[in-house]
Amino acid sequence: MDSVYLTTPIFYVNADPHLGHAYTAILGDVFSRYHRQRGRRTRYLTGTDEHGEKVAQSAARAGITPQQFADDVSRKFREAWPGVLVEPDDFIRTTEPRHEAVVSRIVEQLHDRGEIYKGAYRGLYCVGCERYLTPKELKEGKCPDHGIEPKELVEENYLFRMEKHREWLRDHILANPGFIEPERYRNEVLAMLRDPIGDLSISRPRSRVSWGIPLPFDADHVLYVWFDALLNYVSALGGPGTELFDTYWPSATHLIAKDILKPHGIFWPIMLRAAGLPLFRQLRVHGYWLVDASKMSKTVGNVVRPHQMVDRYGADAFRYFLMRDMVFGQDADFSEVALAKRRNADLANDLGNLLSRVSNMVKRYCGGRIPAPGTPGRLEQNLLEAVRDLPARVDKLMEAFQTHAAIEEVLQAVRRTNQYLQEAAPWKVVKDPERSGEVGTILYHAAEVLRLAAVLLYPVIPRKAVELLAQLGCDAGTPPAGSTWSLAWGNLPVGAEIRPGNVLFPKIDLKALQKEIDGDQGGGAPPPDRVERKTRTDGAHDKGATRTETGGVITFEQFQQVALRVAVVLEAERIPKARNLLKLRLDLGDETRTVVAGIAQHYTPEQLPGKRIVVVANLKPARIRGVESQGMILAAEDTDGRLSLVTLDRDVSPGSGVR
Ligand code: MSP
Repeated sequence: MDSVYLTTPIFYVNADPHLGHAYTAILGDVFSRYHRQRGRRTRYLTGTDEHGEKVAQSAARAGITPQQFADDVSRKFREAWPGVLVEPDDFIRTTEPRHEAVVSRIVEQLHDRGEIYKGAYRGLYCVGCERYLTPKELKEGKCPDHGIEPKELVEENYLFRMEKHREWLRDHILANPGFIEPERYRNEVLAMLRDPIGDLSISRPRSRVSWGIPLPFDADHVLYVWFDALLNYVSALGGPGTELFDTYWPSATHLIAKDILKPHGIFWPIMLRAAGLPLFRQLRVHGYWLVDASKMSKTVGNVVRPHQMVDRYGADAFRYFLMRDMVFGQDADFSEVALAKRRNADLANDLGNLLSRVSNMVKRYCGGRIPAPGTPGRLEQNLLEAVRDLPARVDKLMEAFQTHAAIEEVLQAVRRTNQYLQEAAPWKVVKDPERSGEVGTILYHAAEVLRLAAVLLYPVIPRKAVELLAQLGCDAGTPPAGSTWSLAWGNLPVGAEIRPGNVLFPKIDLKALQKEIDGDQGGGAPPPDRVERKTRTDGAHDKGATRTETGGVITFEQFQQVALRVAVVLEAERIPKARNLLKLRLDLGDETRTVVAGIAQHYTPEQLPGKRIVVVANLKPARIRGVESQGMILAAEDTDGRLSLVTLDRDVSPGSGVR
């Protein structure tokens, strides 16, 4: 039997669970349910990363021991997951003896094999990252992620011989395109491996950092937290030589975001090979959820907490939105209004409506029991044609981690079936004595698509899928057991009594929601993070969401509807209490305009006057923080979330059109 071993990063215990953590945890859960449903032996691991300087510092600030601190936050993670219907098979903590034992054993082996040596290490250490940064990684002398200058440290350290492994790792990645995906991240790792990577400092003197696993061969040093943390994937299986390890390790799929590509793409495979262990099967790297076009951060005050979203929209709809609106590998923008709209459009209107139509008619015309289908007519044949290889298409997309597209396939089938009902019009057929026998055929076909849709959506909306199946009279049981879960056409049990129940996804009142959101802001203008937009106010192209129903393709005519014009920045100023926003005065030749842009984390107001930039000039004005924004500026977004304004390479007159 095929095995699947899925992992999330183990999360640091110095932040409470937020949207970003929830996304990876839900992604892992979706794939775990998916593989289990397809009959594969599946194991899903998550957990917490609890050692290191940062945790020790946070604990000291809180006036408790690092262990107490780690216990508290680790519990929050563990307790957050059932709320979003995430059901891991195991939850590993790096302070558990089972982890420490395996780590000590492997580190000892690495030492014995000559892969670790003692040396002096001089480097630029960032406390935020818990690692030494290379000069190349710095931005204006500061850590790009934490904005602080790293400290120069000289320490007696143990070093891990990484450099000597660079060549084979490059070859391995080149020879195995599936090892790191999507391709852009594979290319990033390959680029990092082009030049020498040096050896990795893997210990910290105990006198400086005491909160860590002591080196088995030198108790004056503790292990560098990343070296300890990566080994969780192996220690959670009991370590090499156990049955669990043999069963699952060869199929390890690590799910991570782009922030921790280097440790997973470089340190980890080298550690495994150096220890004589087989490599993991694949690394799958996703993008970042942004809020208001910016990284979530406590100081900005835009952190989205999963439990709040679940309270407002339910766990199934929250999961659905995250899986549907992020294209794997790319960044996506989170907004509560977008979540509510997605829930209304796909789940309440398309799916929920089909269920209530079918169950009402089965009740009214068929005595509340699933009717037996007769010979399919032309309309049924067309419908069957449309859904014939739906499961195969979904599987193919899931294997490629295209969850958004897999979901869209199912929803297309649901929409197609609503349309089929419209065309087949059973409410008319039932009145025609010569054709009334066809009603059962029509309703069976519609109900069977619903069953298939529920089975296919189960990994994403597990609770509601089971509820839907129960309402259709199916005995849900545990997937994949039983015919209810079959992906083959025709497994809806004829004669089963339907059990109409609650509306699956009651509609959200969007107007009321918007009012509530505005109210949250003290009655002022809606904050940009809660306003649904097709593009962000800073103009960075919204790559994350698939807002067009045509799969992202637009016609030339549609493109022409966007009026792009050159503007010269006259002045720029900060907007009080909005950390991301700048108010710009722009010269468009025949007029001046005010535009609010979410670029304050990337440009100071002083850097902007005189720049020639590009503006979307025919965007409907929006009030943002009390300022009317009359357009939107364009900016590119790098993989690390950095924005760069689109500027012109010649002195073009302001107001000129851009095509
Ligand atoms: N402890 C390390 C990982 C060690 S794994 C051996 C760590 N922890 S973390 O708490 O910072 O988690 C980082 C991970 O959280 C990301 O790789 C991603 O899975 C998830 N996310 C955190 N913020 C995120 C977003 N804004 N968007 C999407 N996922 C993000 O790094």
